Amino acid sequence: MKIENHVYDVLVVGAGGAGLNAAQVASQYVKTAVISEVYPTRSHTISAQGGISASLGNMEEDNWLWHMFDTVKGGDYLGDQDACEYMTKLAPSMIIELEHIGMPFNRTKEGKIAQRPFGGHTANFGERPVKRACYVADRTGHAMLQTLFEKSVAQGTQFYSEFYALELVVNNGTAVGVLCFDMKSGQLHMFHAKAIVLASGGNCRIFETNSNAHINTGDGVAMAMRAGFSWSDPEFFQFHPTGIYGHGNLITEAVRGEGGYLLNSKGERFMERYAPTIKDLAPRDIVSRCIGQEIIEGRGCGAKKDYINLKIDHMGHDAIMEKLPGIHELALVFAGVDCTKEFIPIVPTAHYQNGGISTNHFGDVITGKNGEYNTVVPGLYAAGECAASVHGANRLGTNSLLDLVVFGRTAGERAAKYAKENKITDLPENAGKEGMARLTKYANANGKYRFNDIYEKLTNTMQLNVGVFRTEELMKRAIADINELEGMLKDYRIDDRSTVYNLDLIEALEIDNMLMVAKTAAVAALARKESRGGHSREDYPERDDATYLKHTEASLNPDGSINIDYRPVRLTPLTVPSFPPKKRAY
Ligand code: FUM
Repeated sequence: MKIENHVYDVLVVGAGGAGLNAAQVASQYVKTAVISEVYPTRSHTISAQGGISASLGNMEEDNWLWHMFDTVKGGDYLGDQDACEYMTKLAPSMIIELEHIGMPFNRTKEGKIAQRPFGGHTANFGERPVKRACYVADRTGHAMLQTLFEKSVAQGTQFYSEFYALELVVNNGTAVGVLCFDMKSGQLHMFHAKAIVLASGGNCRIFETNSNAHINTGDGVAMAMRAGFSWSDPEFFQFHPTGIYGHGNLITEAVRGEGGYLLNSKGERFMERYAPTIKDLAPRDIVSRCIGQEIIEGRGCGAKKDYINLKIDHMGHDAIMEKLPGIHELALVFAGVDCTKEFIPIVPTAHYQNGGISTNHFGDVITGKNGEYNTVVPGLYAAGECAASVHGANRLGTNSLLDLVVFGRTAGERAAKYAKENKITDLPENAGKEGMARLTKYANANGKYRFNDIYEKLTNTMQLNVGVFRTEELMKRAIADINELEGMLKDYRIDDRSTVYNLDLIEALEIDNMLMVAKTAAVAALARKESRGGHSREDYPERDDATYLKHTEASLNPDGSINIDYRPVRLTPLTVPSFPPKKRAY
């Protein structure tokens, strides 16, 4: 196979908010390229709806320390507190920067950036909800992505769209390149770079009900694991409380921030019972479990009693059309309801991968073994959903867009600095061999099973057995199912033998990655015998700080099995006192 070669100072993998912010910053200093599986403005950040958090205090008193506390507490104390401080302290300046490069935020009457309440964001360390989410109607991610794309283009970033990353190339512990496949032509490309930023997004497509784009198949995390790096906290997924029943599409939490609330089949506003202080604006893991509980106890709605109603009509037609126009459209198209007059039927939907490639608080990828993960990988950075550290066991709504801009910017700056100060490291002799071998295997796959034979069973077992409520028996069933599906993958078939837009081949590579990330998540979840954040075990219902106040570090053994190790949570913030673990009370 012929390979086309490219050399860059900084290579960014992924063109969502984190990748684009890294790219626009790095491009100001050095020659930078972005590779992306889709055209940049189709990246999954486009679907972020409700807002981006920052303690600007434009509507009422707020303070970054309160934001930090909410982030640490919302993450059930598994977030690294140096990273939580770093992110929440920088948040206000990031919003101003976005404003200055053209992001069209909603405004107050006085012309300030408007802010709305969101789940888990509180004033004075949990006392009452606070308006902290800056927003662009219910299309905040859309506005952010367009703004950052325009800025990166203006800075001269080189884009390679519809390029699928196959292999992260490492030479003697230094990241040196990425092998890619141009989906448009089938041409292979080797990107040789001084520094690499991984910003490849998440993997919630492994669940049947999910809010994710088709590209969210965990390719970046799988690629990093194949290159020898570990995935921090793979067992922690976020189940967003309000996905459209039967489809999973996101109905933003901003609906509840603007006054919407949940009702069971008896018409009860049940969150008042579970979280009397912040009610429907409790963190997402809590609200999702409460919805699950109402359904399990027979108070679900509809003929099958398997969903909950979201009421918003009392906001009035004009307010809904002004602040939540996208929700009105989504509810109409996918649920067939006019939310200015009717309830929206909802269920929890897999929304976000809380953990990710292991990083320090600057987004430098770290590596190690036997509980010690302090080695910084030269020239390798990770930012956004594919990276670890800040969200712990459960991310707060609107902290995702904040994470993208803060850690995307920091990774871009650090990658550019590294590229300026260092010579390029040679590619190793075997560069790209593993990626090419996998590509060839699937390009010629002539067996029995097709993508859907595996995908449907995978998403079904993950949904049923590694979902909102988990037990040892269920998770063991998921692992057994995945083992069986791995057997089917060995007898795989694609029908398209062409080189032009061969999506049959891309799906083969994706299902391979999805099986790996699903198995890693299930094995890590089985090993964590406690309940914390998004990991809720009926057989171990309590949080167990004595044993499990630590990050899981999952990596691949040489035989392809999953190795589970742990590393301590960084409980020491950069400048302020740490927040000691304590029980939840909202
Ligand atoms: O509900 C939402 O608008 C989602 C926001 C987020 O995931 O941060």
